[in-house]
Amino acid sequence: MSKRIKIAELLQSSKTGTTVNVKGWIRTFRNNQFIALNDGSTNTNIQVVVDFENTDPAELKRYTTGAAIGVEGELVSSQGKGQTVEIIARRIEVYGDCDAEVYPLQPKKHSLEFLREIAHLRFRTNTFAAVFRVRHALAFAIHKFFNDKGFVYIHTPIITASDAEGAGEMFRVTTLDAVKPPMNEAGEVDFSKDFFGRAANLTVSGQLEAELGALALSEVYTFGPTFRAENSNTTRHLAEFWMIEPEVAFADLQDNMDLAEDMLKYVIRYAMDNCREDLEFLSNRQAEEEKSMPQNERSEMSLTQKLEFCLANDFERITYTEAIDILRNSNPNKRKQFKYLIDGWGADLQSEHERFLVEKHFKKPVILTNYPAEIKAFYMRQDDPKEGVPGPTVAAMDILFPGIGEIVGGSQREERLDRLTAKMREMHIPEEEMYWYLDTRRFGTCPHAGYGLGFERLVLFVTGMTNIRDVIAFPRTPGNAEF
Ligand code: 4AD
Ligand code: MG
Repeated sequence: MSKRIKIAELLQSSKTGTTVNVKGWIRTFRNNQFIALNDGSTNTNIQVVVDFENTDPAELKRYTTGAAIGVEGELVSSQGKGQTVEIIARRIEVYGDCDAEVYPLQPKKHSLEFLREIAHLRFRTNTFAAVFRVRHALAFAIHKFFNDKGFVYIHTPIITASDAEGAGEMFRVTTLDAVKPPMNEAGEVDFSKDFFGRAANLTVSGQLEAELGALALSEVYTFGPTFRAENSNTTRHLAEFWMIEPEVAFADLQDNMDLAEDMLKYVIRYAMDNCREDLEFLSNRQAEEEKSMPQNERSEMSLTQKLEFCLANDFERITYTEAIDILRNSNPNKRKQFKYLIDGWGADLQSEHERFLVEKHFKKPVILTNYPAEIKAFYMRQDDPKEGVPGPTVAAMDILFPGIGEIVGGSQREERLDRLTAKMREMHIPEEEMYWYLDTRRFGTCPHAGYGLGFERLVLFVTGMTNIRDVIAFPRTPGNAEF
């Protein structure tokens, strides 16, 4: 047999009249004659024409939805509707039969909820194949963006003994007996007997270690899995998600915002240039989904229009204090339509407030900066007091996206040892355990900044999917770790 060619390449470059060899999974078989074959390289199926008169009927019965086959035949231009070329099969080999009676995927529309339950098979649908090709392109684009700028990709540990965000919502990693763990004299579990000689967890962020790298390599980034044991059952939260965390020495908050905006625009542009067919498919899918929704809930723009719009406009940059003023005077606040009314400065913003700012007020991505110190992590750089700002703030930035909410969180870091240790004391973060982090401030400290991009939230935005469980292959959420 000739060498296999993938369908995407065949549709691009193969000449009619040549012999081709394709392999894939049957999507449909109609009239005992036409196989629609898909190999995952594109959503476009290739039509295989079967010479049914000269094929053993027992063999024909094996051409069912889901079966894996190899085909050798001649590529010819097609008379049929919907395709320009097709393959006149000379030889068909069935690698794996698929009993259509019990195969869960039928050639019809299945709900996303149903497909989530058969996540091991959903790669075989057009929607998920498109989502995962786009996800791949975005991951590749992120590496390309940072590589082209001279950033060093570092791998920070998955298992750690520190709590980077100080939020305490971590998964414990232990080999101790769950039923009868060793106890110390104080009646607590004795983690000195545990595998690492101390309590350990899955990381919530690689930031603290990335900072160590940045203070030598100047520009680094991580791209790895992170874990949060928060019990949030929302369409935006996962217990296991992938995060990109760049960290840059000799950079301030402005540089940090510029880098994040450049990166987001670069990777969205990359997807638009390299996943055109998939994004058009997803755009149509979204429009189709929304037909059954009331007019006021439908998107104002199509998916591809939304992405173009995002590239064409500067993100709006405003301070937390300015945002509070806008929200306080907004109609939903005055009419008491917000669940959490904004009456003063200092409260954390809820997603209803973020959505109002992004989707109703500015109608584009927004970067919110200089949040109250109280509601942010210990490592963020303390701002000088400013007139008109009621309380202490930090050089934080959150990027809010339409339909997503927070997609990026970051800050300039507190590089001044005395300020940092004072803050840690205030927040009861043990200085002795964090000696290695503080050492960067003791030895050659410098201004530096970084941020974290939630990868699945980016994929959600670019694919127009609405549930984060549908943009990661095997989602981990409270009560669910199947597959
Ligand atoms: O805002 P977060 O918690 O920031 C950090 O972890 C910092 N250490 C990042 C840094 O400065 N290097 O998380 C960063 C981003 C969020 O903006 C969000 O996009 C995503 O990670 N994220 C989640 N995505 C999915 N599921 C969750 N449970 C998430 N929690 C945060
Ligand atoms: Mg955050």
